[in-house]
Amino acid sequence: MSHLGARVLLAPMEGLLDHTLRDVLTRVGGVDLCVSEFIRVTNTVLPRRAFIRVAPELLNNSCTVAGVPVRVQLLGSDPDYLAANAAALAELQPAGIDLNFGCPAKTVNQHRGGAVLLDEPELVGQIVAAVRRAVPAHIPVSAKMRLGFNDDSRAEDCALAIEAAGASDLVVHARTKAHGYRPPAYWDRIADLRQRVRLPMVANGEIWTLADALRCREVTGCDRLMIGRGMVADPGLALAITQHDALTQGGAMQSAVAWTQILGLMRLFWQGIALRVAPRHRAGRLKQWLNYLRRVYPEAQEAFDQLRLLHDPEKIDQWLAAQAVG
Ligand SMILES: Cc1cc2nc3c(=O)[nH]c(=O)nc-3n(C[C@H](O)[C@H](O)[C@H](O)COP(=O)(O)O)c2cc1C
Repeated sequence: MSHLGARVLLAPMEGLLDHTLRDVLTRVGGVDLCVSEFIRVTNTVLPRRAFIRVAPELLNNSCTVAGVPVRVQLLGSDPDYLAANAAALAELQPAGIDLNFGCPAKTVNQHRGGAVLLDEPELVGQIVAAVRRAVPAHIPVSAKMRLGFNDDSRAEDCALAIEAAGASDLVVHARTKAHGYRPPAYWDRIADLRQRVRLPMVANGEIWTLADALRCREVTGCDRLMIGRGMVADPGLALAITQHDALTQGGAMQSAVAWTQILGLMRLFWQGIALRVAPRHRAGRLKQWLNYLRRVYPEAQEAFDQLRLLHDPEKIDQWLAAQAVG
């Protein structure tokens, strides 16, 4: 279960890319591996249900309905508690356990979790080593980092510490915490890291189109990409990348994802949302997705304009029913 062959990974995005959207997006094809949103670890060992709430895929062999494996991400700063929680999580047989060293959120960093740890490469190494020791060897332990907190001067030290601690692979979001989510992403720094670190690396940040994906691979030298917001905006992006790869390897081109297909996915998403989100928040979740989709689909802009002022789920039901699905 190393998934080292995975070429397109779906990024964890707390509050945006939850298991419902993961289910829908992985049905389109092209995604080889997902990472769940982070589960915060402080000074307790979480009950089973806390892991299952974020990653219900754990009840489905740690796969989405479409069969794409999901690794579960933990975030924290205490090696012992992270190890104890990882051991508890391992009993649920996750497809892997990922450690978050990149979260920029203030509340998380005030508690010494997320990106602030990148100032302490030794602690990063201790965390990965403790978790690796606590988890059976067949379950991969991976890490995801930014380039640093205020600057990227310790990026190499962090990546080397993660490698030495026995991680299976490393996703690098090519920005510091101080860069937030503002473009650009500094892909060239991933190429620098690859000079020093042999650990399989996955490049992440600002991949919105097929052209971005190809350029990111060229600049970083990484075959493997993780995509977050770009997949929410264009659910066909991972498929476009794999189709491109198939074409350049002599395979056949399949069709792109049409708006009518997106509407079908949107219905699935809406059904999933109805099962687990309070009625007053449901319309917001659909508009949140449309807000990304409109970067790619003019129809999504139209839909966004039509739905902008609607909050009543019944009105959304009616709108969806009125759309022709191919
Ligand atoms: C709303 C939001 C929530 C995120 N939550 C997480 C998270 O839970 N864990 C994590 O490692 N990264 C998280 N990230 C970072 C993304 O995984 C990714 O590294 C970042 O968005 C850059 O990739 P992109 O340009 O493809 O979106 C989040 C990003 C966004 C925008």
